Amino acid sequence: MAPNNLNEQLVKYLTDVHSIERQALVQMRAAPGLAGDAVTAGIFDAHRAETEEHDQLVAELLERHGASPSKLKDLLGTLTGAGFGAFAAAQPDTPGKLVAHAFSYEHMEQAAYHLLAALAERAGEAGTAATARGIQQQEQAMGDRLAGCFDRAVDAALRDVAPEALPQQLVAYLTDAHAIEEQSLRLLDRGPELAGVPALATTYAQHRAESVEQQRLIEAELDRREVAPSGIKDAALRLGALNWGLFFQAQPDTPAKLAAFAYAFEHLEIAAYELLRRVAQRAGDTEVEALAGRILGEEQAAAEKIWNLLDEALTVSLRDQGLLAA
Ligand SMILES: [Fe+2]
Ligand SMILES: [Fe+2]
Ligand SMILES: [Fe+2]
Repeated sequence: MAPNNLNEQLVKYLTDVHSIERQALVQMRAAPGLAGDAVTAGIFDAHRAETEEHDQLVAELLERHGASPSKLKDLLGTLTGAGFGAFAAAQPDTPGKLVAHAFSYEHMEQAAYHLLAALAERAGEAGTAATARGIQQQEQAMGDRLAGCFDRAVDAALRDVAPEALPQQLVAYLTDAHAIEEQSLRLLDRGPELAGVPALATTYAQHRAESVEQQRLIEAELDRREVAPSGIKDAALRLGALNWGLFFQAQPDTPAKLAAFAYAFEHLEIAAYELLRRVAQRAGDTEVEALAGRILGEEQAAAEKIWNLLDEALTVSLRDQGLLAA
């Protein structure tokens, strides 16, 4: 049902972050066992405790707003959370994929709490806004800690790889990057028309053009290594198993949700190129190392632009629903 006022919209955002936390809890419980090294496992375990606290804080906020956490949404969150664990475990290079997906997820949470706090401020709820900002800071700190885990994740992924097998590993990371760009193009295809904010529409359109070129350059590297198109396709299918659907639903406040999702997706790409760059470096491939570094910069710039337009996206979302004066 469409919200009639800012308070109803606030309850919707609280319900969303609650299901995001439920999903995060499943991930944080599975992650230490998949991390591949003790330091990363400890980081996940510490954030599990924080996530439990976030879950509790949001449940209390929902109760204070006269709403109970949606049972159905929680169930969905738990199921897709478990699916994430199975997905991560099914990958040959689990530590890298795990850190990449968790890094992206923390940025989705960061954006979701930013939107919640901004909405609470507009609704005149300073207490709710302060709680949301506090959680947002912890999500950001967790994202920063995960950024410090890329080296260890690559070490763990390549620990049992013989030096002569490194080029083959590099092909796997190139194939993943190619598949991620495919997903990125699908997201950005719809971006401009759903953006709601002209500057965001421009950002999506410009980054789509960049992504076409990124994918072309990755494909050229795969061609040079004579990787068959079927191998590239398989990676695209594997990636499709990652279920982002829970967060990205057809909501009436699409511009804000889309921006938050795009921000998280850029961080999946950032992580993928952080890993690719390190694997290329270990394989002694300076060309791919430089290419990954260059694309990484483009993904970071796109993420920053989207972040800076989140508040405008929220304004348009609320205006579209008649919750703000035009
Ligand atoms: Fe988190
Ligand atoms: Fe990209
Ligand atoms: Fe991107």
